Amino acid sequence: MPSEESAFVMELQGPGPGGTLTGFDLDDLNVVRAQFPALSRMHGDRPYSYLDGPGGTQVPSRAIAAMTDYLSRCNANHEGAFPTSEESDALLAQAHVAAAEFLGAADPGEVAFGQNMTTLTFAVSRAIGRTLHAGEEIVVTRLDHDANVAPWLALEEERGIRVRWVEIRPDDCTLDLDGLAGLLSERTRLVAVGLASNAVGTLNPVAQIVDMAHAAGAWTYVDAVHAAPHVAIDVAALGTDFLVCSPYKFFGPHLGLLYGKRELLDRLAPYKVRPATNEAPGKWETGTLPGEALAGLIGTFGYLDWLGRRFGGAAEGASRRDALAAAMKVIFDTERRLAHSALTALTDVPGLCLRGITDPARLDERVPTFAFTLAGHSPREIAAHLGRQGIAVWDGDYYAYELIRTLGLAESGGMVRVGLAHYNRPQEVDDLVSALHELAG
Ligand SMILES: Cc1ncc(COP(=O)(O)O)c(C=O)c1O
Repeated sequence: MPSEESAFVMELQGPGPGGTLTGFDLDDLNVVRAQFPALSRMHGDRPYSYLDGPGGTQVPSRAIAAMTDYLSRCNANHEGAFPTSEESDALLAQAHVAAAEFLGAADPGEVAFGQNMTTLTFAVSRAIGRTLHAGEEIVVTRLDHDANVAPWLALEEERGIRVRWVEIRPDDCTLDLDGLAGLLSERTRLVAVGLASNAVGTLNPVAQIVDMAHAAGAWTYVDAVHAAPHVAIDVAALGTDFLVCSPYKFFGPHLGLLYGKRELLDRLAPYKVRPATNEAPGKWETGTLPGEALAGLIGTFGYLDWLGRRFGGAAEGASRRDALAAAMKVIFDTERRLAHSALTALTDVPGLCLRGITDPARLDERVPTFAFTLAGHSPREIAAHLGRQGIAVWDGDYYAYELIRTLGLAESGGMVRVGLAHYNRPQEVDDLVSALHELAG
């Protein structure tokens, strides 16, 4: 066993709020990595390092095969009176059922597909906007991706709505919940918040925020795009009115996914063409759905189901929902271990300033997404230096537009962002950190 592997196994005893850290080991990791064809790509003599997961994760063979199968076998439009259309429709129905299970929604009719999260959010915000009146308020946060901010801000201009801001605590990039409490009133109609920050990885206490919003009589719109590859989502436990995520960020094809409480999806009126159904969820799915992408998503759920049963300890005969939850648990545990070594090693690089939660005892409050600056080098230079070594990371603001401005980093190129996923190897963290040490001199 190579030395880096022994180090990784020893890290199993690393600290963590729950005591001993769990997750899968290196032999398991090799089995997991073998499910992803892209992970066999080499850069020179070492595997290409995909640390760009927050921009889009890699896709398992099951999903790729399912897409090919759809296009080879039953590529047809909706509701035709012929076999390929019937088969395609059956598959779309299956995708709704599987996505509802993934999100913890009881009713597949509460799940709608769209092009991506941004497009779905514009659609929902336009429909909600039709019900709002001047002087009513929407609360957004400085931590969110702009896709959960700009659609609501547009309602200021269009409907005379007032947008109020939840600020962040700059020392650890968590949301100021006292500030939120002070903003909520009988005028608040909606609170838009992210489950996890796509820049600094903060996991927000969304169940608590939903309770606060509901107590004020407001709806909640939760952006789970960045959380979905890292933690189990349970819309029932969160109690949220709406939730959105994007399968291409959790090992699926390019697609957006909307959950809405049935009563709200039924009641609200999206912009749509006249002949399209007036029933939810179809009325939210404008135009023709990308059947191959929905087929691919079923393949992704198949992968997660396999992971939950093989490595997550899902009991024999467990339901798919339980297997998916077990998969997300083993993913979170495995990533927490990687996050622990990344945190420790990154903070040792001279001149590196890591933002967000940096205390290794608080790994339960974040996902393994790290944003930092390095003295003397612009984020773009650092990303290019790493890119030349086959290490893919992002630089800039990644549309966490308000956060980067609040931290005063907009003029200097934002930050470098490293995003770990459960398929990343401990060696990749070591390679990243050595390359940063090289730059730091
Ligand atoms: C947290 C978060 N929200 C929303 C989005 C937008 O997602 P989409 O590309 O599906 O519109 C992203 C994409 O980076 C994101 O990371």
